[in-house]
Amino acid sequence: MSPDEREIYLANFKYFPPGASNDLVIKTYTEWAPTYVETLRSGGYTGYVLAADEVASRVPEDQRHSLRVLDVAAGVGSVGLELSSRGFKLIDALEPSEGMMKRLETTGVYTKKYLELLGDGAKSVPSDAYDVLVCSGGMLEGHIPAKGIDDMIRITKPGGLIVIVMRAEFLHQVEEYKGLERYFDSLQEKGNWTKVEVKKVPNYLAGKDGIIFTYRVL
Ligand SMILES: C[S@@+](CC[C@H](N)C(=O)[O-])C[C@H]1O[C@@H](n2cnc3c(N)ncnc32)[C@H](O)[C@@H]1O
Repeated sequence: MSPDEREIYLANFKYFPPGASNDLVIKTYTEWAPTYVETLRSGGYTGYVLAADEVASRVPEDQRHSLRVLDVAAGVGSVGLELSSRGFKLIDALEPSEGMMKRLETTGVYTKKYLELLGDGAKSVPSDAYDVLVCSGGMLEGHIPAKGIDDMIRITKPGGLIVIVMRAEFLHQVEEYKGLERYFDSLQEKGNWTKVEVKKVPNYLAGKDGIIFTYRVL
């Protein structure tokens, strides 16, 4: 791990300690927004590229311009920029931090923007509205809780795709996510969605593995 990678790796535990509240997380991102992209990139963050590649690999090029995509925990808009460069045109964003949202707006690639959290119903977002929901880096301590997945399924159209990219070790380190894969399975057993693919990928952040969950809503 390089010194920059080590710094960002440790910063995660410092800024988002166990039990971090929504308010703390949102405030931290608003303060961080002006330097977020530079800090994450020097720390070797690739999640936004992995997420866009995964979405693009599932959607033929001639359909990309007409599908509605929601970027969840959109931050400053890195995933949207990547999707736009792959031919997606109808991209909306959900992001709870005003500071991050302000920077996201400068990308010019998002149409609708929801200043909103997942995990508490996300009531401002309509049901069955999106063909693709993508979330990179939204599953961390104090971020999207397991019940946020229910919101994702409600928002996505039946037949639509949900792509979640996160750091693999959080499935063991973060209390909220220790049962996440079991929760995913239970939603499949209930007939809410079906697994398309789950895969580990190298170099998600600071040389650590990521995991990409791809599900189809039923
Ligand atoms: C690590 S950043 C990832 C940003 C972007 N997706 C990327 O890949 O660069 C995590 C983002 O999740 C947002 N967030 C935190 N809690 C959330 C929640 N409950 N629902 C939705 N977004 C949340 C934060 O405000 C922050 O912008």
